[in-house]
Amino acid sequence: MLKVSAPGKIILSGEHAVVYSRPAILAAVNLRLSIRSKGSKRVIDSDVPVGCGMGSSAAYAVALSALKCKPWNLEKINDYAYKIEKKHHGNPSGGDNTVSTYGGFLWYRKEAEGLKIFSPIKVRVKLPKFFIINTGKPLESTKEMVSLVAEFGKKNPKKFKEILTGIESVTRKFLQYLLKEKEYKISELIKENEHLLEELGVVSETAKQMIRVIERIGGAAKVSGAGGKKDRSGILLVYHKNPKTLIKFAKSRNLDIFLVKLGEEGVRIEE
Ligand code: PMV
Repeated sequence: MLKVSAPGKIILSGEHAVVYSRPAILAAVNLRLSIRSKGSKRVIDSDVPVGCGMGSSAAYAVALSALKCKPWNLEKINDYAYKIEKKHHGNPSGGDNTVSTYGGFLWYRKEAEGLKIFSPIKVRVKLPKFFIINTGKPLESTKEMVSLVAEFGKKNPKKFKEILTGIESVTRKFLQYLLKEKEYKISELIKENEHLLEELGVVSETAKQMIRVIERIGGAAKVSGAGGKKDRSGILLVYHKNPKTLIKFAKSRNLDIFLVKLGEEGVRIEE
């Protein structure tokens, strides 16, 4: 094994809440990070934007543990990647490394440090096109954003519980939507999720303004990942029933926009 690659991810619903034992739905995306072992050197190549909520650090941790794991064993790769993530982030949910390891769409829930439950979601609905708009690398790290949310929770315990319960409810609606068990408008689910994240305080004013414009032109957008408060908030997961309108909007503002494929393969051997 000379080269391995692991995907980045988006969170459809449940970021931050997942740190507090609430469920999240994550999807592996078609942007990958690879590590090639060349003698004693390691060469990293990646198209996952760094520090923007697309799980670049988890993809790195997964690829690195895969390179070291002999024989190939996904459970071990995931466990080791989680340990690396813990060193970086302090209190990660483990969702990012799990979806980067196994790929696809995952229902994920950390019940306790020693018990993390996840299950692949067999998507039955015909998924619409999703776009990513990058609002830029947040000034805060994931660790800082997770601490900010913890502080909010300490100061406003009642409100905090209400928001977490609201996020969990959207996550469950997303699940029913994906499984085609109940009909929901995807734009409404994204909006509901975004507004709860804003209440939690993880979305910057710049990103909020951009999202309001996207809503006004008929679309919906949410931060995906830890977000950012001071200035930029990382990537936005964006939906519009008419993608041309969205592309026109992004171009008029010189924004970086691209189509993203969800439910892609997890860690794999390339060479
Ligand atoms: O921004 P990212 O890609 O590091 O994602 C963080 C997701 C959180 O739910 C905020 C934290 C976690 O550990 O799940």
